[in-house]
Amino acid sequence: MRTIEWDDGVVKMIDQRKLPREFVIVQFTDHREVARAIKEMYIRGAPAIGAAAAFGLALCARSSKAKSPAELLADLEQAADTLLKTRPTAVNLPWALGRMLEVARKTEYTEAEQIANALVAEAQRIADEDVEINKRMAAQGAELIEDGYNVLTHCNTGSLATVDYGTALGVIRTAHEQGKRIHVWVDETRPRLQGARLTAWELMRYGIPMTLIADNAAGHLMRTGQVDIVLVGADRVAANGDVANKIGTYKLAVLAQENGVPFYSVCPTSTVDLSLPSGDQITIEERDPAEVTHVGGVGIAPEGVPVYNPAFDVTPHRYITGIVTEEGIITPPFAPGLRRAKALV
Ligand code: MRU
Repeated sequence: MRTIEWDDGVVKMIDQRKLPREFVIVQFTDHREVARAIKEMYIRGAPAIGAAAAFGLALCARSSKAKSPAELLADLEQAADTLLKTRPTAVNLPWALGRMLEVARKTEYTEAEQIANALVAEAQRIADEDVEINKRMAAQGAELIEDGYNVLTHCNTGSLATVDYGTALGVIRTAHEQGKRIHVWVDETRPRLQGARLTAWELMRYGIPMTLIADNAAGHLMRTGQVDIVLVGADRVAANGDVANKIGTYKLAVLAQENGVPFYSVCPTSTVDLSLPSGDQITIEERDPAEVTHVGGVGIAPEGVPVYNPAFDVTPHRYITGIVTEEGIITPPFAPGLRRAKALV
């Protein structure tokens, strides 16, 4: 199944917290439950949380007792606010909510029910488009990968981070499907281990050769010539090409440049936020200290230890070789290329 699906008034999603040990589908009928699922990372990954927020708003529209379009709009704006507050870094969340509210605000509706139907259809469109965009992006990005390449990736950018197929992992999948003999180094991605738990699980299911590494091994592998390309996703790309992505991405980009390894971010144009001039304006989410002090529920640090747990970092654009989008591969200078790609959508 897809990471998230709408099934006759019910939102179904894979509970990613339980993978790879258990494959559990959870069901929600209330947007507040969807908001909790985003915050607690049942579902995660920039495009996936955008789709989840859209389906959450569709649930609100369906269950609202509003008697008029104006009353329903007030309910929807409140629900959008609840969904928006769940995670601050990925721009796909406000992007999807903005797109949904724009549909709801159209003046042609005379009944609340018409808005609800239009919102269910729009959320479904956002989900379907995500899959189609990922495949277009993957086809473009796969041209960067040559037969025999060792690819290094970080976090999870696969089917699970999107509605289906993936961003950076989508590129890897397409290269593999094209018959290229590739091997993937998978960063475990502390503290939440999206690489070890989710990317390793996905790659093994697809039969793509891979090796799991501790995050700290990446520099050694690059210096000893064992990495041909680094492919990561993005949670928000600023107008100048600075990329916010999972914590640890910046370190990889610096190491890649130092060792002459090309470094690409793969993301849909919905992840590009032209309203922010640079990555300095991107809000970095801070998460529960327990993610650092515990692994798999087992405490590893002294009780009461002070912890700082930023979930993302910003990679300045000077370290980035290119940004792969569904509208093409953008290379420096990024600002005009990103503007052009956004205008094409
Ligand atoms: O905290 P997460 O697991 O939601 O972070 C996800 C990432 O950083 C991904 O690399 C990113 O969303 C881009 S790939 C879809």
